[in-house]
Amino acid sequence: MCGIFGAVAGAPVADTLVEGLRRLEYRGYDSAGVATIESGGLRRLCAVGRVGSLAERVATEHPAGNIGIAHTRWATHGKPSERNSHPHMAPGVAVVHNGIVENHRALRSELSAAGCALRSDTDTEVIPWLVARNMAAGNSVEDALRTTDRTLEGSYAVAALHERDPDTLYGLRRGSPLVAAIGPQGGYLASDANALAGLVTQAVCLEDGDLAEVHRDRLVVRDAEGATVDRRLIAVEHGTSSLDLGGHAHYMLKEIYDQPRVAALINDCYGGIGVLSNFLPVAPAHIRRITMIACGTSFYAASVAKRWFESLAGIRADVEIASEYRYRPLPPAEPGELAILISQSGETADTLACLKRLKEAGTPTLGLVNVVHSTLAREADSFVPLHAGVENGVASTKAFIAQLLVLARLAVDIADRRRGLRQDHVLSCLRALEQMPNTITAALHNESAVQALAETFRDARSALFVARGPLFPIALEGALKLKETSYIHAEGFAAGELKHGPIALVEDGTPVVALACSGDLLDKTGSNIREIAARGARITVVGDRGGILSLMDVAVGALTIPNCEEFVQPIVSVLPLQLLAYHAAVQRGLDVDRPRNLAKSVTVE
Ligand code: F6R
Repeated sequence: MCGIFGAVAGAPVADTLVEGLRRLEYRGYDSAGVATIESGGLRRLCAVGRVGSLAERVATEHPAGNIGIAHTRWATHGKPSERNSHPHMAPGVAVVHNGIVENHRALRSELSAAGCALRSDTDTEVIPWLVARNMAAGNSVEDALRTTDRTLEGSYAVAALHERDPDTLYGLRRGSPLVAAIGPQGGYLASDANALAGLVTQAVCLEDGDLAEVHRDRLVVRDAEGATVDRRLIAVEHGTSSLDLGGHAHYMLKEIYDQPRVAALINDCYGGIGVLSNFLPVAPAHIRRITMIACGTSFYAASVAKRWFESLAGIRADVEIASEYRYRPLPPAEPGELAILISQSGETADTLACLKRLKEAGTPTLGLVNVVHSTLAREADSFVPLHAGVENGVASTKAFIAQLLVLARLAVDIADRRRGLRQDHVLSCLRALEQMPNTITAALHNESAVQALAETFRDARSALFVARGPLFPIALEGALKLKETSYIHAEGFAAGELKHGPIALVEDGTPVVALACSGDLLDKTGSNIREIAARGARITVVGDRGGILSLMDVAVGALTIPNCEEFVQPIVSVLPLQLLAYHAAVQRGLDVDRPRNLAKSVTVE
C-alpha cells in the first residue's frame, strides 16, 4: 500500500518520478505527489486521485529539480485530499512514507506542544517534523533519520530529501519493502523493483533497519548499527510489457486471457512427479498436518486446496485467515506440522505477521508467492514461485489460478510420495493438470454468453453465489470478485447452508449463480438450487454439461465449462466468474482495474 519513488540525476527528474509512480499505482491511487529541490528550496506538487492527475500538474508546472521523491497514496489516516497527500514537509525536509506509524498520536501531541505546525491528518507528518527537530539539534540528515527511526513504532518505508543535502536521497526500511539502485542516468529508490524497469538492470533490496544514501552515481547502505553493508541484488527486467495492455481494454481482461500461458508455464516448471515436493521444508512422509494461511482471494485458493490435501494425500489440512490467525492463542506446535503461506504480492502485512509467529514457534514454513523478490519469498523457510507474471489489475485473477495450479500439483506430489502413484485417481488428476492450458482456453471461449449475463446484473443490488464441496470456495471467490469490481453486494454460500438462514434473502428475481458440476455432490446441490428457485431466485448455472442438464428446468441461464476431471473443476469454474465480474463492472461504467478503496499490495494490517 502506497508507492514510494525517488530519483536523483543530472537533469530534471519530474517526468521520471511520474513514470515511476505510474508503475506503482497498483499500491494505491487516492492521491499522488512529488517534491523536488529547486534553487536550493523544496517544491511540492500534489493532486487528488490517480497518478494521471498529478501528471497533468507536472506537465503544466514543470518542476525543475534534479532530485525528487514521489508517492501514490492509499489513505490510512485522513481522507484523500491535497492536504493529506504526500510528500509531507517540515522546514527543510520532505518525506514520503508507506506503512503506519503506530505511535503517531503521542508524537503529534508532543510536536504540536513544542510549536510544530502539523497541517495534515496523517500519521506520516510526524516523520519530517521529527527529522527537522533532530537536525535542529545539530545532527546530520542521516543521524536525524536514524534518531527518528528509533522514535517511531510501526512498520514503514520512508524516502526523504533535505535542502541542506540537495544531492542525496535517503531511504529507510522498517517492515515495508524498499529497493535502491544506480543506473546510467542516476540513482533511485522504489517500493518495488518493477518500477525501475528501463532505468537500471539490478537493484539492492534493503533489509529492516537499513538506511540507504543514494547519489547520482553511488549508493551506500548502512544497517541499524551504522555498518556499511552489501545487500542482495535482484535483476530488474527491462521494458514495460507488464504495463502494455496487449490489445485488451483493461489489465483485468488481459490477465484473464493470460491464464492458459500461466498454466503452461506452471506445467513446464513443475510438471511431472516429485518436482514440487523438492521445495518442501519437510519430507512429505513426515507431514502430519498442513495449515494454510492467507487473505482474500489467496485464502480461497487455500480453501480449495484443503480439500485436495485431505482427499488425495490423506493429510489433515486447515485454512486460516491471516488477520485472525496472527492474534489467536495457539496450542504449541506439534511435530509434522507444515505451514503454507499463500500470497500473490508476498508483502501482505497480516500474512507476514503469521510467518513471523510460525517461525518463532519453530513450524516449517513454505511460501507460495508470485513476487519472487518479496519479503515472504525471502523469509519463509522455502518458497515456490507462482510464475503468474506481473498482475496489474487490482482484482486477482491469474495469480489465483497459479495458486490453485501449484497447490493442486503439490497435493498430487505429496499424495504420490505418501501413497504411491499407482492410485488411478492420482494419475488422472495429473493428466487433468497437464491438460489445463487447453481446458482453460476452452473455458474462456464463452465470453459473449458471460457478457449477456453481466447485462442482467447491471442494475442488480445484490447477488448470491452457491455451491458445495470444492466448488464452495469458488462461490466465495466469485462473490468477492463481483463485489470488488462492480460494487454489487454479493455473497457466497455453501448450498447446504441456505436453509439455515440465507434463504431469507431470496425473493422474486434475486440473481443466484449456482456452481454445479458432475460428481458426487451434484444431486445435493441440485436440491438446494430447486429450493431457492421455488422461492423466485433467478438461477444461472455455471457448470459442465452434466451440471447444466441436471438444472435446466429451473435455470434461466447457463455458462458451460468444459467437461473435466472432478479434481480440476474448481479451477475451471472460476473462469466464467472472473469474466462475469469484469463485464459487470465495465457495463456499470466502473474503473475495473482500480476499484474504489482497494490497493493491490496490502502492506498495512
Ligand atoms: C482480491 C484480491 C485480494 C488479495 C488479498 C491478499 O481480488 O486480490 O483479496 O487476494 O489482498 O493479497 P496477497 O495474495 O498479495 O497476499
